[in-house]
This record gives sequence, C-alpha cells and structure tokens, in this order.
Amino acid sequence: MSDQKTGMRKGLAQYGDAAFSLFLRKAFIKAMGYSDDALSRPIIGITNTYSAFNACHRNVPDLIDAIKRGVMLAGGMPLEFPIISMHESFSHPTSMFLRNLMSIDAEEMIRAQPMDAVVLIGGCDKTVPALLMGAASADVPAILTVTGPMITGSHKGERLGACTDCRRLWGQHRAGAIDGDEIEVISGKLAPGPGTCMVMGTASTMALCAEALGMMLPGGAAIPAVDADRLRHAEATGARAVALAAEKLRPADIMTPGAFGNALRVLQAIGGSTNAVIHLVAMAGRLGIELDMAGFDRMGQETPVLVDLKPSGQHYMEDLHRAGGLATVLREIRDQVDLDCVTVSGRTLGAELERAPAAWDQAVVRPASDPIHAGGGLRVLAGSLAPNGALIKQAAATPALMQHEGRAVVFGSLEDMAERLDSDDLDVAADDVLVLQNAGPKGAPGMPEAGYIPIPRKLAAAGVKDMVRISDARMSGTAFGTIVLHISPEAAEGGPLALVQDGDRIRLDVAGGRIDLLVDEVELGRRRARWTAPAATPKRGYAKLYFDEVLQAEHGCDFNFLRAEPLER
Ligand code: FES
Repeated sequence: MSDQKTGMRKGLAQYGDAAFSLFLRKAFIKAMGYSDDALSRPIIGITNTYSAFNACHRNVPDLIDAIKRGVMLAGGMPLEFPIISMHESFSHPTSMFLRNLMSIDAEEMIRAQPMDAVVLIGGCDKTVPALLMGAASADVPAILTVTGPMITGSHKGERLGACTDCRRLWGQHRAGAIDGDEIEVISGKLAPGPGTCMVMGTASTMALCAEALGMMLPGGAAIPAVDADRLRHAEATGARAVALAAEKLRPADIMTPGAFGNALRVLQAIGGSTNAVIHLVAMAGRLGIELDMAGFDRMGQETPVLVDLKPSGQHYMEDLHRAGGLATVLREIRDQVDLDCVTVSGRTLGAELERAPAAWDQAVVRPASDPIHAGGGLRVLAGSLAPNGALIKQAAATPALMQHEGRAVVFGSLEDMAERLDSDDLDVAADDVLVLQNAGPKGAPGMPEAGYIPIPRKLAAAGVKDMVRISDARMSGTAFGTIVLHISPEAAEGGPLALVQDGDRIRLDVAGGRIDLLVDEVELGRRRARWTAPAATPKRGYAKLYFDEVLQAEHGCDFNFLRAEPLER
C-alpha cells in the first residue's frame, strides 16, 4: 500500500493511534477472507439498496454481481454495503418524508467507510435523488446506475403499465365501470416484474435526468430491468468506478451549473415528472448551485415535449430504449444543451453523443417539428395564491382548462378530502376548482403525492374526466390532469393557500404563468389574523428533525443544514 490516504487507509476509526487503527481494521477485514493483494486494490463501495419491501429494486443482487465483475476486471476491489431502500407504496407517511434520511445515510456511510469511489444503485423514485444528494455532499468519486424500468403487462389484450394505467383503471373502478373482482385481477397485471414504473413517472424521469446530468454511463436510463444489457451496463459501471477512483473525478466536477441546465432541458423535452424539479433543486443545493426557475420556465417555451410516453403520450420506457434511449432525445435538442459538460465517463456529453449508435427510424422520440406538446412539459406559476411559486405539468393537462376561473371547493386536509370527496352531499360542479390544503412538506407531513385529487364520485359517474385541482402537495409523475402543485408557501406555513374558503374565485392562467385567488386584501387580512397552524409539531425523533429543518418546495424540500450553504431563517 502507498502512504497516500487511499483504500483501507482512508478515514480510520479514531483510537488515538493511527497505526493501531489500521492494524485493527486489517484484522477485521481479513476476517472476511480477503487477501493482502485484494485489499491493496482501489476499494469500490457499492450501495446495496435491495429490500424485500422494494419490488423496484428486486434485481439489485444481480446488478451487484455484475458491478463486482466490472470492478474486478478493472483491477479494483468491490465492497458492497447496505443502505436505506424505499419504495413509494411502502413508505409511511411518504417516501418524500424519508428522502433526506436516505441522503444522510448515503453521505455518512460513503464518508465513514474507506472507499476510493462508490457505485450508487438507484431506481424507485426517491432513491436516485437521495443517493446523488448524499454523494454530492460526501465528495467522493461516484457513479450511478439504476435498476431500470419494468417491462409492460397486459389485461384482456390491453397493454398496461404502472402507474398511469393504475390510476386510469382505478378511476374506472370508482366510476363503477370495473367491478371489485376485475380490479383485483388487474392489480396482478400492472407491475409484472422487477424494475421501476415504466411510464414517464418520477423514476424514469430521474434516471434520464441523471444520465443527462452526466452521473450515469450513456444509455443506462432506459434499459429495462430484465434486459441483459442492464447487466452489461452495470458491469461497465463497475469498471468505470475503478478509473474514477484513479482520476479522482468528483460529483462536483460533473454536477456543474451547465450539467443541471442540461438535466432541466431534458426534463422539459421528455415531459418528465414535476417531482424532478424538487429533486434537482435539492441536489444542486448540496453543491451550492441555485437553479434558475425563470430560466427553466423559458426552456419549456423553447423546448417542446418530444418523447411520446405515458402519461403525456402512448409508449413505455422499453419502447424508448428500443428507440435509442436518451441519445435520441439529446440529438433532437443538441443545439439547446451544453455539450461541453464532462460526464462520469470522463468524456463530454457531446463526445458521448458522437459515440452513440447512429439514429434509426423510430416513433417514440418525435422531431421538434412534430412534438407531442408544443408548449413544453412543465410550467412554473406565480400569483397571489403562490407568491413563492407553483408548478403545472401542462403536457398532461386538459387544454380547455388551462385558462379557467372557478369556484373553490376546499378540503382542509387529506382526511377531510377522504371523508367528503365522494359524498352525494358535496356541493361541487365540473367547473369548480378543487383545493387541497395542508398537504405540503410540513402539512401532511412529507408532501404526499395527493395533488392528483380524485374527481368526486358523482362527477366521475357523470363522465367528468378532469377538473382544475390545486394544492401544496406533489403528484406522481405517472398521473395526469389539470393539476397545480407545490404551491408555496404551503398552507401549514400560513401561505395564502391556507386562507382559501369554499366559494372563493380562483383563476388559473397557464399561458400567463399565474394562479390567483380573487379575494381582496382586506378580507384576506381578516382571515390571516384568525389563522392558526393546523398541526401539533413532533416532539422527538426523525419527525422532529424533519419538521424543524425541511424547506419549502422552491428549495427542494431539503433540510436546511444539509445544503452547502444553509439559508438564513
Ligand atoms: Fe418504484 Fe414507481 S413505485 S418506481
């Protein structure tokens, strides 16, 4: 071993005698059966995010085998270690509540243990941002791979995918068109194997954004979880991690302002999930980079949605893979991306694009002259109801509702909504605006994906498919509708959303980038004086840490003390 602080010499446990610390470490690592030769190699950590609660990570053991093979073929020594894993449906109250905990776990375990580089295995929605946030803060050479999207299922000859079709078919069940027995059968068809939701949900979006950001080897985002290419990509990732350790290329060298600009541009072009905005802002905040939301909004006006995937279009991720994956998208927008950004391969994004297989005829990524949605995927909103911003996925909205004024029908909480939404007594009409309060970062807590407020049963039964719905919540990337999200400040912080009452007029103007509450300031002042915070604050544990430190959506819902530069509060 050299005298440099690499491999087993890195980050010794402190006993007051460094030589003894190394001696003790070697004694215990040798108990694992490793030879001196093995331990003299560059140490490559591998985050084991397998969990029996996480179907999206079912193939992690296979990926680890392939990554280890790549590491060893390149002369390194792979050491996997466990890390928090979380699945959307198995995270109470929400996976968003736990994202920052996973990022802390990643940061501290990458820093605490002696690794020269780390391979991050993400997949389900929050895991990719959590791992990248942690790796950015740990400042150790890092490379990402993902579990990959699921292949599609089918029911009665219809191709199905999680979870756009989950929501669509559940909506039909609520409206009485699908009975209880059939919906049970369907639940076995929507997610037919390992991997992540195969529509343009948050997992697919974050994988593509991470590849555009340069943190993943080319082509990795769209390879299906069960495809042999997925294992070859993992092997290549392991091999590249060994080179990264030698080159000392760190996350901050790759995740630059230009790279984040590329990720945001790709987010617009793919019609990606609104959640990605929160995650990219949080990741950038770990590196002291402030993302320009006005610039992001302009990107949406310059860059149409080109990728024809559900929920905005009709295809699935396996189709995008067959169409060439992210490279096919980047070719269409190459004039709008920074091709000089260095990626984790050590080459620039432009060089990687040149190396990608030549384009072929395909129907999944449209040319800019024939987009899926001309106006871009996401629109940033402001206005009297959202002084610090809000977001709408206009590509998944109903065009006729994007300019709309209606009467507010207010639900004060998730529980209130669950209790009254389907009541025959609810005073609601199709042109009303459904308002959900107290579902933001602190309100629920954990900013649940509750922004996709179901259409009240009596309206759904009458054939109403979409209404304007607004909240401080998030929405699954797999959902669709005219839905305003991430309203900030949230209601639980006393933002204007907290002051909305039944019958108020609300105006949505997507083209103008506004969401306004049409109530005069005198009346709002009266309501503000009467407002009290809705929830008792937690007294202990992670919940207390979360409640004390979580920031609003425009700061990525990170904990303030985890940012490179905490905000003055
Ligand atoms: Fe894991 Fe959809 S639930 S990606």
